[in-house]
Amino acid sequence: MKKKCIYWVPELNAYPDRLRLITKLKYKLRQEIADRAMTQITIALTKGRILKETLPLLASAGIVPAEDIFSSRKLVFPTNRDNVRLIILRGSDVTTYVQFGAADIGVAGKDMLLEHQGDGYYEPLDLGIARCKLMTAVPVGSTQQHSRLRVATKYINVARQYYAEQGRQADLIKLYGAMELAPILDLAQEIVDIVDTGNTLKANGLEAREEIAEISSRLIVNKAAMKTKFAEVQAIVDALKEAVESKQ
Ligand code: PRP
Repeated sequence: MKKKCIYWVPELNAYPDRLRLITKLKYKLRQEIADRAMTQITIALTKGRILKETLPLLASAGIVPAEDIFSSRKLVFPTNRDNVRLIILRGSDVTTYVQFGAADIGVAGKDMLLEHQGDGYYEPLDLGIARCKLMTAVPVGSTQQHSRLRVATKYINVARQYYAEQGRQADLIKLYGAMELAPILDLAQEIVDIVDTGNTLKANGLEAREEIAEISSRLIVNKAAMKTKFAEVQAIVDALKEAVESKQ
């Protein structure tokens, strides 16, 4: 390597001290890059309403995006911390990224965790934000009894388990959004969806019936990252825990 350098920059022959310094700096830089790769922490956030409540918590934990996430179409954001970056995903993808270790840490709604039913991550902290309920809903005043119910939802696994526990037969129809439309167009008689203010149900002539689960956003951590990047990951978990506690 030294020879090559001398070959390409012959004038350095005259300055052995500088050559030594350059070599030293080159190795230092390599080491820094290697160190950074070891401790780089990727945090997957859920876009939408959860994000608005997540960012202040992250800020209290000392992690601030280096640019405005809401006015950007980017998906990866550096932060004020050299080794921490944020990625912005759909809620249903956060669990997948963290499960497979593409992200070390994630923030996802409990509804997504219940539905995903994956392993590969721990759930160390209830962030207490984006609180809502997972509920069944039907057209207002509906008293219809169906021997075989059609239910539209994006929470197929949760719904399957819920109706089985109730001893009710239900045909589940997977939708990806606007579940409230299904009963209006007779695609289903019932839906399973999250309810926050209840305004969406009301605006579409539906009412909530049975509560399936209380929902809030949770911090999840990839199991391998918890071992291999323990110091960095645990520091973030602790800082967020403190931020959550100081909010209460
Ligand atoms: C959710 C949910 C309902 C609505 C409930 O949709 O699917 O449609 O919020 O909130 P409300 O009780 O306050 O009216 P969201 O807006 O998150 O979009 P999504 O359909 O993409 O999930």
